[in-house]
This record gives sequence, C-alpha cells and structure tokens, in this order.
Amino acid sequence: MNEMQDKRIVLGITGGVAAYKAAELARLLGKAGARVDVVMTAAATRFVAPLTFQALTGRPVFTSLWDAPQENGMAHIDLSRGADAVLIAPATADFIARLTHGLADDLLASLCLARDCPLLVVPAMNRQMWEHPATVRNMAQLRADGVSVLGPASGAQACGEVGEGRMLEPAEIFDALRASFQPKLLAGKRVLLTAGPTFEALDPVRGLTNSSSGKMGFALAQACAEVGAGVTAIAGPVALPTPAGVTRVDVQSALDMREAVFATVPQTDIFIAVAAVADYRPAAPAAHKIKKGAQTLTLELVANPDILAEVAARPDAPFCVGFAAESRNLAEYAEGKRRAKQLPLVVGNLVQDGLGGDANVVTLFDAAGAHPVPPGDKLTIARAIVRHIAEMLDAKN
Ligand code: C5P
Repeated sequence: MNEMQDKRIVLGITGGVAAYKAAELARLLGKAGARVDVVMTAAATRFVAPLTFQALTGRPVFTSLWDAPQENGMAHIDLSRGADAVLIAPATADFIARLTHGLADDLLASLCLARDCPLLVVPAMNRQMWEHPATVRNMAQLRADGVSVLGPASGAQACGEVGEGRMLEPAEIFDALRASFQPKLLAGKRVLLTAGPTFEALDPVRGLTNSSSGKMGFALAQACAEVGAGVTAIAGPVALPTPAGVTRVDVQSALDMREAVFATVPQTDIFIAVAAVADYRPAAPAAHKIKKGAQTLTLELVANPDILAEVAARPDAPFCVGFAAESRNLAEYAEGKRRAKQLPLVVGNLVQDGLGGDANVVTLFDAAGAHPVPPGDKLTIARAIVRHIAEMLDAKN
C-alpha cells in the first residue's frame, strides 16, 4: 500500500546545516508520488539553494510572504489549504520557538498557523540548544498543541559535539510521515504495554538485570500510537526517547512494574507484555552495600509475579498479547506459553535474532496457527503486529 500517492505535502525548511538532507527527503517524497511544495526560510536559503528543491520537486519554491507568485497574494493560506501535512525538516531551535509562540513573521511560520492539516516537526540543533530549558519548554508546548515531533536522534553533530539533537535521516522522516497517513486501526483504543528489562536490587548499588534494550517495546508503543491508540508504556531502565503521543512510566523492578500495570489495567483495551521481566529477585536486598570478603557468596532468590499471567486471568482482562523470546524450539515454547497463560496472541522470536539489535524476525502464534512476519526493522515488525492485533479485534467483534 502506498500511503504517499497524490498526498500534498508542504515541506518547510529552516536554517540549519541539516537542510542539505532535506533535498534527499524531497526526492523520496516525490518518488513516492507525493506533490511537494517546498517553503524555505531566509536562513535556509543560505545553506541550500531553492533551485535544488525546484529541480527535485518540479515545482516552484517559496521563500517569502511578499514575492510568492500566487494569484491572490495569499501564499500563506493557499499553500496549506488542501495540504495533507506540513512537515518542517530541519526545524531549528529558533523556528520551534517562533512556532510555540504563534509568530507569523515569515511565510513558513504563517502557513503553520493558517492550516487545519497535521504539522510534523523534525528538530535539528546543537545538543546544548536542544537541552536548554527554553527549548525543553517549547517542545512540551508544541506537543501539547498536537504537533508531532519526529526525533531528534543522538550522535555526532556538525559543531563537533556528540549528543542529542541530530535530525533524523531522510528515510526515517519519510517513514514517519507515511505512517501518519496509515488507517487509524486502533482509534479510541487504550493500549498498555511493558518494555525493557527490570532491575532487581541486590544492595543500594547493585542488581540483577538482563540485556533487553526496550527497542521492540518502544517500537510497538510508537506503532500503536500511529494508528490512533492512546498508549501508556511502563518501561524498565532503558535510555530510549519516548515516541510521540506515548505516556511513559519509568520503573525499576518487576514489583514496581506490576504495580504500575495494575494501576492502569482497568482502563485498558489491549495489554502487550513486551518487557523481559526478571523471573526472580533477591529475597532480601541488603540495606547497605555488600562488602567484599568471603570467597563465596550465596544469593537467595524468590520468584517474581508473572504480570502478564495475572492480567490475563482477571475477569475484566483486556486483549492480552505476550512475547516469547526463546533460544530454540520457538514454535513449541511460544505456543505452550500462549496456552499456559491463556493468551489470544503470542509474538515469538529467537533471542539470537532480535535481542538488543534494531532488526528482528518474529512469528505470531494465535488459535489459528503460526503466522511468520517478514524479517525487518523493529518498527516495521511492530506495525505488522499491530495490524494483526487490529484484525483479531475486528474478527472478535
Ligand atoms: O518470561 P516468559 O518467557 O514467561 O515471558 C513471556 C511473557 O510474559 C512476556 O510477554 C513477558 O513480558 C511476560 N512476563 C510478565 N511477567 C513476568 C514474566 C514474563 O509479564 N514475571
């Protein structure tokens, strides 16, 4: 399915060095069949010439409120009227600040006000600018105003520093925009999910954990939010950015996770347990740091509650989805887990295929049998899982 065909996209470009990547984004959008109207701020034209975008989109590029060649001289309204989305990439700290305050001092800022289509903003700036309290405030305001924020990523920056604030890559931006046009398969549904590992304290500084990265759980949170669900993610200790539109609750131990889940489960339609919850925790965590001394040290562990099994056993249980990460005999173990916990759906994967990485290979197990999902990155796989969940819910009703 090509969600981009014939979509009318206003691509706003502001004055950051990442503007050169917007050329590739314009090309990807055009190639997918979208009509792309590029609007540049004055600063953006210092980085890349408008001619580049004109050549890539085959359409005039707009740079000023005053010389926009529209018949009625109302470019700020004409451009956004009838647009399917306004996408700002890169969005500088300055442009974000102007947007937050509703300024209309150039063509791009004006048309962001004069629109009724979704606005997607892709921040790109130095990490200190990104972390500055003023930017943090502005981003919170943008999100509260219903703007979708894509990224930023973390990594090397043009200024030579390393940190958060890099613009997402063009292919990632393209993907996110395309996803925003997906049918709202879970509109009005409330999704609760767990993600990441848990951390079971041994003493105030040490603990037992595992190498789950939380990436699959966060990808699912994003995929559910993209298709209209209200999403709460209960996350163990992971350093991942929270996807747009997702409410995040950070926890440490399995017991904390259980408490957070149970506080929300009565208002939940779909529960997806992605977390790699520790099966055991230290029976009696030490109040003070355990000192080195003895040659051997015996730890006594007690079993943690199985959060998913408990949720699934409730009389008012939501639609429950489990994960089975196995190192062998995937079909047998995953299907066994599905039956034991009485779940409608289990997502099975081999740990050697997915743990910690960006890609995964999964098979879905439900009452109808095993459904392999084409291998891919975790977000693509998450979207396939969400489609399957939506189909099962549809069939149920
Ligand atoms: O650990 P196990 O393989 O049984 O995990 C299967 C499913 O159960 C996963 O979806 C996991 O998130 C969930 N689980 C849980 N609480 C536990 C253990 C597992 O919710 N204590």
